[in-house]
Amino acid sequence: MCGIVGYVGLRSVPETLLDGLKRLEYRGYDSSGMALLNDGKIIEIKNIGKVINLEKKASDTVGLELKNGTGIAHTRWATHGFPSEINAHPHLDAKHRFAIVHNGIIENYQSLKTQLQEKGIVFKSETDSEVLVHLISECYNGNLLEAVATALKKVNGTYGLAVISLESPGTIIAARHGSPLLIGLGEGESFIASDAAALVAFTRRVIYLNDHDVAQVTSSGVEIRNLDNIAVNRDISKIDWEPGAVEKSGFEHFMLKEICEQPEAVGNSIRGRLDLRSGNAHFNALNLSPYELSKINRIVIAACGTSMHAGMVGRYFFEDLASIPVDVEQAAEFRYRNPIIQPDTMVLPVSQSGETADTLAAVREAANKGAIVTAICNVVGSTIARESEHCIYLHAGPEIGVASTKAFTCQVTVLLMLAMLFGRNRRMSYQNALGLIAEIETIPELTKKVLDQRSGIEAVAKKYAEAEDFFYIGRGYLYPVALEGALKLKEISYIHAEGYHAAELKHGPIALLEENVPVVALANDLPGKEKMISNIQECRARCSPVIATVTAGDESFKDLVSDIITIPACSQFIAPVVTAVALQLFAYYVAKERGCEIDQPRNLAKSVTVE
Ligand code: M6R
Repeated sequence: MCGIVGYVGLRSVPETLLDGLKRLEYRGYDSSGMALLNDGKIIEIKNIGKVINLEKKASDTVGLELKNGTGIAHTRWATHGFPSEINAHPHLDAKHRFAIVHNGIIENYQSLKTQLQEKGIVFKSETDSEVLVHLISECYNGNLLEAVATALKKVNGTYGLAVISLESPGTIIAARHGSPLLIGLGEGESFIASDAAALVAFTRRVIYLNDHDVAQVTSSGVEIRNLDNIAVNRDISKIDWEPGAVEKSGFEHFMLKEICEQPEAVGNSIRGRLDLRSGNAHFNALNLSPYELSKINRIVIAACGTSMHAGMVGRYFFEDLASIPVDVEQAAEFRYRNPIIQPDTMVLPVSQSGETADTLAAVREAANKGAIVTAICNVVGSTIARESEHCIYLHAGPEIGVASTKAFTCQVTVLLMLAMLFGRNRRMSYQNALGLIAEIETIPELTKKVLDQRSGIEAVAKKYAEAEDFFYIGRGYLYPVALEGALKLKEISYIHAEGYHAAELKHGPIALLEENVPVVALANDLPGKEKMISNIQECRARCSPVIATVTAGDESFKDLVSDIITIPACSQFIAPVVTAVALQLFAYYVAKERGCEIDQPRNLAKSVTVE
């Protein structure tokens, strides 16, 4: 998704902007650009494709050593208008007095554009964003912040916006509504970015803007107002991860690094949250009394993509451990379906980024209908985290690879601990809770055991890398993991992969099975295994090669399947996490064998901040 970086201070402006853009590349983009305020003019540089092309262009035109200035930069992921140099940001007004970069969508851009065209303004691009620069230019009356605020009052839609002007050298105006933006505070320098990853190498002190904030950013600090020009106060937060966390640290891809980080990431999700004395889980962020917990009679999990799959695993936890009815909703469906929410409903938005537009809208809808909203997020200070009544963080560290990996396993682990909290508040005994705590504490070690089999999984992946269709089948706790395994494969290898409940296969999809269509069967030694054996037989009878995940020591699949991926023995509560790690590795090695762009797959963005 689009990314914004801005800088004002003594460093080389192009170099600083490019450094920030490179750290945002993981979000996915198709073109990039920057605007530099220098020597009484705005220099605009844009390019299709990778930031490295922009770097070359900047180096050829202005050089990279342009110190002591102001600049804004952008990576664009096309929504309105094809990826092209003209449609790339920044956009400038006709007299080149103002330049803007914009994330989000201006919904009423067409009517605004017509009004501006009627005044004789000529548009260069097909983007919705370009209206903003012309509006700001029209509203300018000697004060840039006021011009931006006045222009934004005419706009419907979402924006994370940065503006520079010839009239205000040394100043960037930043504004947000529905699209994240933060200000980084340095010594005699300031930064803006749409994502903390762009700033962490320069400063850890940041201010997250709220919706309708308009900030005047200079090298000496920031002043924030709302759209009515009233001063507002925002706290300074500290980014708590190291710059190394957003680097590959010797791994070939971020995705592989993040897969391999899972023992530590899951360990961080668990740390300090399990209490042997009370036989319970606790979350500082969820300060509900036992009485308040007991009044929650229904849970709705709203999420998208991988986070929704984690939510689907969560449903089994809550139903089995706490006997609470759970619905798992695709967040877009939740927001538009007029869901029934009662005062005893807790809504759990699950989101790695905390910025997914549909999940955020679900949060607002749920809050509006009076639900208790408890988010499960990874990104600290993200919009979903801030707008939810409670937020339980994953502590998984930044996830850069577009394909979500460690966030999934941490989400599942957090949902398991949360279900345990609800279970203890109801019928779960102290003894059972101690058993579950002991199991949860083994997750880091068990995921490590899967990682230790990397080379074996790579060999299986290489064998099937040329297939063009795949099926993944699972049952019970492993059904959502089958969906997640298929999603991982299609995202990064572009192989058509479908996840199904194993029982559903014969209701239609089995028609597609043949010798070129491998089936990944999640056949761990868990309830339902016998039925899975029958499903595998059905696949074999159609000549499909079967790759099975099998519990260590289980010999029953030796002569039944083509290839085996061994999963350490564990209960159904832990198996989704451990099995998912194996499927992530499988997808990774298939994609690598096919020579795919693993960290930035085509057409995908890390966080989907538009509908
Ligand atoms: O940041 P979120 O967890 O809210 O993102 C939701 C989905 O967009 C995300 O999980 C997506 O499906 C990933 N690309 C999956 O790998």
